[in-house]
Amino acid sequence: MENFDYYNPTQIVFGQDRLNELDNLIAKDAKVLVLYGGGSVKRFGTLDKIKASLGEREVLEFAGIEANPEFDTLMKAVKLVQAENVDFLLAVGGGSVMDGTKFVALAAKQQADHEKILFNGFASVPSASAIPLGCVVTLPATGSEMNTFGVITYNAQKYPFTSALVYPKFSFLDPDLTLTLPKEQIANGVADAFIHVIEQYLTQPQNAKVQDRFSEGLLKTLIEDGPVTYQDNTDIAARKNFMWSATSALNGLIGVGVMQDWSTHMIGHEMTAMFGIAHGRTLAIVLPSLLRERKTHKRAKLLQYAERVWDITDGSDDEKIDAAIDKTERFFNSLGIVTQLSHYNIDDNDIDTLVANMEKMGLTQLSETGDLTLDIVKRILHAAK
Ligand code: NZQ
Ligand code: ZN
Repeated sequence: MENFDYYNPTQIVFGQDRLNELDNLIAKDAKVLVLYGGGSVKRFGTLDKIKASLGEREVLEFAGIEANPEFDTLMKAVKLVQAENVDFLLAVGGGSVMDGTKFVALAAKQQADHEKILFNGFASVPSASAIPLGCVVTLPATGSEMNTFGVITYNAQKYPFTSALVYPKFSFLDPDLTLTLPKEQIANGVADAFIHVIEQYLTQPQNAKVQDRFSEGLLKTLIEDGPVTYQDNTDIAARKNFMWSATSALNGLIGVGVMQDWSTHMIGHEMTAMFGIAHGRTLAIVLPSLLRERKTHKRAKLLQYAERVWDITDGSDDEKIDAAIDKTERFFNSLGIVTQLSHYNIDDNDIDTLVANMEKMGLTQLSETGDLTLDIVKRILHAAK
């Protein structure tokens, strides 16, 4: 295990019927901007509850943050924050709204060059300050509610950014606010959270027992309660476990002191940018094929994954690994996710363009060891046809 610092200041307010506690968490004299997406929070009454809880405070609204949030849309919110001297941003939605709000928090402190926030890769954005923000989560998936990351679409490409300045001050995790989600969004969320754990866990052995066992616990919980939540809207106990798993999958804890492999995400982001396929779905297409391609490279951890996560005890090591990858793919399929590119009408020409776009973005040395080249990406995608 490598040296690490771990710091996560986000207060989690977990459970049903707690939105009235918003009043205790934002300064009484704050001017608040509530940011949300295409309207689900308005349609299903969440916005009214939030406004009631904010009481006498001056509250402004910014609606229309789209899935895979667009730079141009967010710049309208930046102008509003600057013109109105907003003190606090409240994101109400899924990853897109939370990520978009983080971008606004940083960009509103700048007068120019806002797009440069997006050009630092996984190095911290060199900003000195941000408007404070909080979140009300309506879609468990990304972990954005308890981390420093955001992903913004700019010129038809997805750009990640990170800054400790945008840790949410608090995040509300109320399973009741997720009951209106269409089934396929639950599926996307389960796949996304699962693959967040995998990209931090399924690398090389590093004798990081706590991280490994936390990860295995999260994966097992998602395998158990993800499908229940997908099938059954009444099982709140399962939904609570799914929700906390999704947050815990990407709040930094399981990734400390270990190698990480974000290849599946980097390939998936390009698929979303090019074909508009939802984030979680792109990952579920790429991962099984990537694991088969990297079977030798990841052998030790794949075997551990087979034995400890899928409880596979019979057969040779190779058979166990193959069975674990097959079970992973079938798990995504059981959530109604098709894991073949042909289903999305993506052909050989599209694969060539996708790989060329990754090259333009400088994504040429992926994985925990930096040796996953674009030739290998091509093989992975051809195998996923
Ligand atoms: O816009 P509205 O009308 O609210 O509808 C949304 C949206 O269309 C709907 N929705 C959300 N909550 C709902 C609901 N519909 C009914 N009832 C509810 N309770 O769901 C749709 C998708 O929402 P979105 O926020 O786009 O989904 P998700 O949470 O999966 O976020 C995906 C975004 O997060 C980024 C992705 O790249 C993508 O842009 N990611 C962010 C990460 C991070 N910050 O750490 C890491 C991830 O790997 C990911 O890259
Ligand atoms: Zn993700």
